[in-house]
Amino acid sequence: MKSLVVANWKMNPQTPKEAEELFRSIEGKTQGVEGVEVVICPPAIYLPLMIQRNYCSLGGQNCFWLEKGAYTGEISSLMLKNSYCKYVIIGHSERRIDLAETDGVVNMKIITALKAGLNPIVCVGETAVEREEGRAIARVEDQIERAFEDISSEDFLQVGSVNIAYEPIWAIGTGNPCDSKTALEMRLVAVERIKSLFKEKVATFRFLYGGSANVENAESFIKEAGYDGLLVGGASLRPDEFNRIVKIVSSVRKI
Ligand code: PGA
Repeated sequence: MKSLVVANWKMNPQTPKEAEELFRSIEGKTQGVEGVEVVICPPAIYLPLMIQRNYCSLGGQNCFWLEKGAYTGEISSLMLKNSYCKYVIIGHSERRIDLAETDGVVNMKIITALKAGLNPIVCVGETAVEREEGRAIARVEDQIERAFEDISSEDFLQVGSVNIAYEPIWAIGTGNPCDSKTALEMRLVAVERIKSLFKEKVATFRFLYGGSANVENAESFIKEAGYDGLLVGGASLRPDEFNRIVKIVSSVRKI
């Protein structure tokens, strides 16, 4: 199983030209990097610019919870799939908080994504207050449980992997990453919860870390905390830095 390094560009950059340049400068450098799959998740409007690619995979940053219909402004899993996406990020904390996305909505989105054959990247993570109050583990366990509620083994038939990204909310975009010991503890919590939900093997589960991941800390999340990859926000907009992160992940963890 390859490691995964996901570039979450969020609502950046502001022009198609910049998006294309950024994509090309990441794509080219990914050539020859072993054991790592690089996934670019641009704003959906830029996906058509990225069809010509050789080394990177594409992902959506979000999808709607139904397949089609009168839902102004929304994008379906099938549209992403038909625009050459292999992955989709679901339940990012920015959507959970700013757009009031509930665990129930996250669950429905995972179901439609799986149906469309998109490999979900499901984000979970606690707030600073939840951590301070000793509720971080319970929160993450609960998010995972609700995310996969009523999903049966047949729902996984179309996809190769399911990816759980542990992203402590207090670490996202703050320059204040989680320490590797806490990250390890939270990875084990997520692994155990998935094991208890799915007794038999339904898919390959990968566990990613996200939240101020950068060149300084990338190695520790893979080597010390044992993650299968990273979800990178800010640093994915700086191609030199992002490419260095990809190389670090590749050198630490080869197939
Ligand atoms: P960050 O974002 O790397 O800028 O902290 C990570 C994310 O939100 O996925």
